Amino acid sequence: MKTSVIGTGHVGLVTGACFAERGHRVLCVDVDRAKIAKLRRGQPTIYEPGLEDLVRRNVKSGRLTFGTSNAEAVAFGRVVFICVPTPPRPDGTADLSFMEAVSRDIAKSLKEYRLVVDKSTVPVHTGERVRQVITKYAPRGADFDVASNPEFLREGAAVQDTLHPDRIVFGAESRRAEMILRELYEPFKAPILCTDIKSAELIKHASNSFLALKISFANALAALCDLAGADVQMVTRGMGMDKRIGPAFLHAGIGYGGSCFPKDVAAFEAISRELGYEFRLLREVQRINEEARDLFLKKVERELWIVKGKKIAAFGLSFKPDTDDVRESVALKVVKALLERGAEVRAYDPQGMERAKEEIPGLRTARSPYEAARGADCALLLTEWKEFRDLDLAKLKKAMAHPTVIDGRDLFDPEKMKEAGFVYRSVGRP
Ligand code: UDX
Repeated sequence: MKTSVIGTGHVGLVTGACFAERGHRVLCVDVDRAKIAKLRRGQPTIYEPGLEDLVRRNVKSGRLTFGTSNAEAVAFGRVVFICVPTPPRPDGTADLSFMEAVSRDIAKSLKEYRLVVDKSTVPVHTGERVRQVITKYAPRGADFDVASNPEFLREGAAVQDTLHPDRIVFGAESRRAEMILRELYEPFKAPILCTDIKSAELIKHASNSFLALKISFANALAALCDLAGADVQMVTRGMGMDKRIGPAFLHAGIGYGGSCFPKDVAAFEAISRELGYEFRLLREVQRINEEARDLFLKKVERELWIVKGKKIAAFGLSFKPDTDDVRESVALKVVKALLERGAEVRAYDPQGMERAKEEIPGLRTARSPYEAARGADCALLLTEWKEFRDLDLAKLKKAMAHPTVIDGRDLFDPEKMKEAGFVYRSVGRP
């Protein structure tokens, strides 16, 4: 099926490439001409395992093409996906101005039937707004449907998640829209849940907020375990063995980050309030997340006493492993806080150093974890890259002035660290 995607960010590009991989003809458009020029050469501007291959292969086969105008997108696809950013405003609500602008563009180019599908993460009622905007700006009698089709892809596993989703959720309010989306997703062979538009919009916010809640629960438990002298990994493992709870997203650490959870929880709380429901639970989820980072910084201070002037190696900058994304990265926030307190930080991250330097100009980085640790008073594990799990502990110890490791992701085995001669601290473990 001919499908258009407006916006080639993480969601748009991965979605477009995966639709092409599943046999559809796809046109992805973006206002960023430089990005589109690179994509035409088969070079994605983001790092995502498997993506470059997928883009190259589908560009070559001619199923995946690129353009720079929304009008082209409307002319090409029977289905037009909107995948534009919905960034947070200072009060936590989502800024929907890109959604509105794109909806107006779509309206103006409507000539024959189009199904306009919102894939960006948006608050409930956005679909209704999109429909109103298109009706207002489109030629009279224009034939279109609006649908909502939230994505659940994780960065670093975006291609896998999109090609093999747990479920596909869409909100469609006409038989025609539903049938088109069913046909489009048929080759994905995944369970489909078709709802009304508002419910689909809520499913996205509710899912992400619930996952964030699980993480904050684990972080609250970790704080408690630190006080009680218990082991949070054992506690969450024990909980997770109950099928009703499940083991996923109960990993304690320095908190969740990234472009989704912080923004989505805040936006969900804000839209709930706007609708008249005080979702206080979500405020607490956010508070615990910030507290997790502060408690970690306190641990660093407890170990070093005076942070000013201390040499600190930071292992990890990206918000999680397997991505170069540092948006809302807790690792980066920790580094910033330590720099503000006068520490001499030297950081290493397998992918995130370039982006981190855009956020912290002048950030000192190293070519390897050992180089970052040279002469350090302590090393902080901030992102659980596999490369860190496989560190040569003897080599690390030799590089450091004082062999102290404070593990913000509970990556290392306390026993092994002790045997290797490290002073070792982690989150919620004795
Ligand atoms: C998330 C959702 O998982 C995805 O479905 C949605 O579409 C977009 O948001 P993503 O932001 O890529 O995906 O990252 P995810 O893997 O979910 O991790 C988010 C953050 O939570 C990371 O900072 C991670 O380190 C942290 N995390 C995750 C924990 O601290 N503990 C956990 O147990 C799991």
